Amino acid sequence: MHLSGRRILLVIAGGIAAYKSLDLIRRLREKGATVRCVLTRGGAQFVTPLAVAALSEERVYDDLFSLTDDNGMSHIRLSREADLLVVAPATADLMAKMAAGLADDLASTVLLASDKPILLAPSMNLLMWSHPATQANLATLKARGALQVGPGTGDLACGEVGDGRMADVADIVAAIERFFGLPGPLSGRKALVTSGPTHEPIDPVRFIANRSSGKQGHAIAQALQRLGAEVTLVSGPVTLPDPPGVTVVRVETAAQMLEATLSALPVELAVCAAAVADWRVAAPAVEKRKKVEGVPPPSLVLEANPDILATLAAAGERRPRLVVGFAAETERLIDHARAKLTRKGCDLIVANDVSPASGTFGGDANTVHLVTPDQVRSWPLMSKTAVAEQLALFLAERLGAESP
Ligand code: C5P
Repeated sequence: MHLSGRRILLVIAGGIAAYKSLDLIRRLREKGATVRCVLTRGGAQFVTPLAVAALSEERVYDDLFSLTDDNGMSHIRLSREADLLVVAPATADLMAKMAAGLADDLASTVLLASDKPILLAPSMNLLMWSHPATQANLATLKARGALQVGPGTGDLACGEVGDGRMADVADIVAAIERFFGLPGPLSGRKALVTSGPTHEPIDPVRFIANRSSGKQGHAIAQALQRLGAEVTLVSGPVTLPDPPGVTVVRVETAAQMLEATLSALPVELAVCAAAVADWRVAAPAVEKRKKVEGVPPPSLVLEANPDILATLAAAGERRPRLVVGFAAETERLIDHARAKLTRKGCDLIVANDVSPASGTFGGDANTVHLVTPDQVRSWPLMSKTAVAEQLALFLAERLGAESP
């Protein structure tokens, strides 16, 4: 309940992401905050005042006239009685009004008649987002001190893919917690995550790769960041957006991944979730290899790649306090994970079944077993995001317990 006593005025504008604001109200209240809501006319088209009132257990303010009855509150008081104003979703239209100082409805009036800090969670179509007018309005608001969380990249409600998606509720909550200066369990700690596949060149156009999507590793980096850690994510080639608030170093080969990983030291926690290629081509061709009629196909001479996890675990004084590896197996999961724990010298192996039937590779769900020298904990099938959140909490607890 670490947001107890914090008063948040949430302005819900007219965007499809308004449905996420209902969850935002719940999450903030679970943490003890009081959440009072103002709905714009557009916002009320997407979520009903009744739903907002039920979740916030507060009266909902949806236009100027509601302020004139006995229980009403002036727009001045609405903002005065809040510690932070959160605009989520912050639409292009509402941000334009705010930048111009318009006050033609309750939301814009409250926002103008306020000297309280404002956190914006923009949400809109990608062309609206990238439009110079929107960017100029946002720059104006930020120059006046507004804080911003998101938007992220992904599928947009309009069917397009790109920037403009409202930040995840967990990220908005984390931004609010940061605003209140609340430390997460990993605040002040540095973490390193490897994610994705590696590409090992055969020649300038061809490479050896694997099916890793990077979803699990990226989700872990994000979850650690949400708990307050300063996270460096060393990622092989993936099509995922960079997790907000995380320092991302992009690499292609295992050798580059090792170099980037060692450069990120010292860290307290390292999670190696990358599917690093075990072998690379010993002598990649400088020019594209040609197919020649009548000449048999070339053979590839492979050599071993460095083992990043084992290198980190054996890094002496620079060894992270907690080194976590993954074991992607298609059979005898726990046995292989135990053997790997010893072989690699790490503290924990997260074992997951990647047999084709499991759908783990590229999919959104994962069944994992946490294998330590003395215990095996098996978690039920969960989304990769949930696995990441649980794992981040578990690791935060382990680090906390081991703190001097
Ligand atoms: O040996 P195997 O590839 O099964 O081990 C998997 C674990 O080791 C994962 O945590 C993976 O990120 C890590 N690994 C590594 N560098 C390698 C091979 C695997 O960091 N070259």
